[in-house]
Amino acid sequence: MSRSSKVSITPKEQSKFVNRVEGLFSPEQFKLSNEDREHWGQDWTRLFEVAPLAVVFPNCINQVVELVRLANAYDYKLVPSGGRTGLSGGCVASNGEVVVSFDRMNQILEFNPVDRLVHCQAGVVTAQLQQYAMEQGLFYPVDFASSGSSQIGGNIATNAGGIRVIRYGLTRDWVSGMTVVTGNGEVVSANKGLVKNATGYDLRHLFVGSEGTLGFVVEAQMKLCAPPELQRVMIACVSSLQDLLSILQCFQKTLELSAFEFFSDLAMSKVLGHRGIDRPLSTVSKYYALLEYDESMTEVATQAFSVCVNHGWITDGILSQSISQSKRLWEIRDGITESIARFTPYKNDISVRISEVPGFLDDVEGIVKDHYPDLEVCWFGHIGDGNLHLNILKPQNVGISEFEKRCRKINHLLFERIRRRGGSISAEHGVGLLKRDFLSYSRSQSEIETMRAIKEVFDRNGIMNPGKVF
Ligand code: LAC
Ligand code: ZN
Repeated sequence: MSRSSKVSITPKEQSKFVNRVEGLFSPEQFKLSNEDREHWGQDWTRLFEVAPLAVVFPNCINQVVELVRLANAYDYKLVPSGGRTGLSGGCVASNGEVVVSFDRMNQILEFNPVDRLVHCQAGVVTAQLQQYAMEQGLFYPVDFASSGSSQIGGNIATNAGGIRVIRYGLTRDWVSGMTVVTGNGEVVSANKGLVKNATGYDLRHLFVGSEGTLGFVVEAQMKLCAPPELQRVMIACVSSLQDLLSILQCFQKTLELSAFEFFSDLAMSKVLGHRGIDRPLSTVSKYYALLEYDESMTEVATQAFSVCVNHGWITDGILSQSISQSKRLWEIRDGITESIARFTPYKNDISVRISEVPGFLDDVEGIVKDHYPDLEVCWFGHIGDGNLHLNILKPQNVGISEFEKRCRKINHLLFERIRRRGGSISAEHGVGLLKRDFLSYSRSQSEIETMRAIKEVFDRNGIMNPGKVF
């Protein structure tokens, strides 16, 4: 459960707010109860207090504009809420804010097969877009474990990555145009779906990854592509983290990978236990790599596998023989976040350039050994992107505050190493509340000042998702 709040929300404040929005929203478009505010006022992190004033559900751009104007007039702070699957507290409302949910703006508005563009509202769920693309004989490739709930607006706001970045890139690469309601209440249409557009600053890329601090994404034109051929999935047993990069390079010499993921045996055990499924292969290894590639490359992949075995980088493996087996193998990787959620994990989502990965893994292993010898540390991530998810699991008998304090202390050591290697303290989960105080490990003072200046331009009264990022 989330932490109980020290901020008290009084019925008087709530009814004042209701009086002000009554003309704008119908009664079913706002919620005030404790349960509703708790539900819509947080994401998948469970480390922060949750205390919004109210939750509202606009159903069109105009309602968002009017709400932003009202917020500017009465100094209400607004927090966006998509699928609430974030892992950095980016949409947590801890301080009497108004939560703006996009659940009612969930329509696919238009599809143009010539442009291969889908025009969606912000609340369209990722899986809904993937399914729609499939129905058109096309493909939306950005994918992650939370595809069933995460929304396009939130994906854009956090530049969501996921499991196929190595082949298809991040959400940023699939946004061809977008409409944003800024903190000043202006509607900005950025790029409008053009492939080429050399007319000055591309504001689209400023809003991607801005975590709702400049404005709220209300609509987007998303690109689709041709579907890939059938995919094969392999899980390989790996004894040492340092061998992962050798394996990656060996496979990449001869084929294009659609995914290159890894997880520790602890991570796999948590999924097997939580879902009640069997081990996919009898060999128990410290780590596993999951590789995905086009079926036509099976022979080439088998050759690469043999090379890795001969070098001692891989000790055993399993190759999917059917679509359903591929799904079962993917379930082990995709199920990790959900399976460890009950341990209130402290999440590190860190990255370095691929060439820095081996040295970086040495650094992290050393810190884990020295500072978390008594705790369960769950390793997994997108090592093909240089992105490691290091999750520290909270022991049952330790309180959340005490646990968080300890993890944050060790963060300084970890993040100093990342800084020295030119890496990032948040690869794909965003800064939100969780990484805000550590931003200077990845961004210079002058960069942070520039970001603040940009925020002033779009959100002069500071009403959009305040306290997030910086
Ligand atoms: C994943 C999420 C945690 O990779 O980013 O499963
Ligand atoms: Zn991830």
